Amino acid sequence: MAKAARPSSTSSPGSLLPADRARRESIRLLLQAEVYDPLTYRFLVDAGLQSGMRVLDIGSGLGSVSHLVSEIVGPEGSVVRVERSAELVTLAEHLTRRAGITNVRYVVGDAESLALSSPFDAMVGRFVLRELNNLTEAFRSLLRLLAPGAIVAFQEKVISVPVTSSPRLASVEKVRSWMDQARARAGVEVSMGAKLPQVFVSAGLPPPELRFEAPIGYAVDWVGYDYLVEMVRGMLPLIQLYGIASEQEIGLDMLADEMRSEAEASRGVVILTPCIGAWAVFSADSQETGYLHDHS
Ligand SMILES: C[S@@+](CC[C@H](N)C(=O)[O-])C[C@H]1O[C@@H](n2cnc3c(N)ncnc32)[C@H](O)[C@@H]1O
Repeated sequence: MAKAARPSSTSSPGSLLPADRARRESIRLLLQAEVYDPLTYRFLVDAGLQSGMRVLDIGSGLGSVSHLVSEIVGPEGSVVRVERSAELVTLAEHLTRRAGITNVRYVVGDAESLALSSPFDAMVGRFVLRELNNLTEAFRSLLRLLAPGAIVAFQEKVISVPVTSSPRLASVEKVRSWMDQARARAGVEVSMGAKLPQVFVSAGLPPPELRFEAPIGYAVDWVGYDYLVEMVRGMLPLIQLYGIASEQEIGLDMLADEMRSEAEASRGVVILTPCIGAWAVFSADSQETGYLHDHS
């Protein structure tokens, strides 16, 4: 898997121009993909994605999940990815071309009001449901795009489970504390992963199969440290707004090295935010009967 570009600039996201913000967001998404893609690949295979399927990828960002799906479904299959950010789509198309992937196409638009005709054999999404406004309604209408027997497979983080290290490393604890405090003050949704079964059942799907997995790192060149730094960088405006820590205290430039050298000295492991994956099989009548009326 290609390595993401390592960040270098120290400017605060709050003061960035839109193009620079999109660039920062892209760096974060690429690092996130490097950390979570192995988990997602295993999850999608477990969920039953296979060669020849036509798959819909919701909230595809830079297209990392669709690239994994493309590999699983092979040249006989295809992926349609839906993303509302035109800037991300332009970058994603470039990445897809560069990777020589030809069975993926993009729809720029809002997943909450999609008009697509072909029925899909599977619908997937990673870390997107948390961002939908009318989640249950949107999810239910997305199910109408599926063929009977289609697989529905989504992954979401469980942010309420803290980033941790063993033995406890002071640098990782600092990062965890800044992020947790900022999220708590901002009222961020922290348990979307745990809500997946409820979302599935409320939309008329059967109770889903579940997976729980967290990225864990030991090697000194592990990309997880760079990802944590990008997370803190993205939250810097909130961290500063709430007076949690100053940019100087945080020292973004040195933070990854600090975590790396502490982890190396203690021979410790660092465990990032886990995610829950849920999958179920859609049957044409599940929206009309059974589960929906029993559980909603
Ligand atoms: C956290 S990113 C995850 C991207 C990608 N799934 C991944 O794992 O790399 C969530 C993405 O969903 C997109 N998104 C959020 N709401 C959307 C909507 N209603 N319609 C289409 N895309 C949406 C965002 O623009 C963003 O690119």
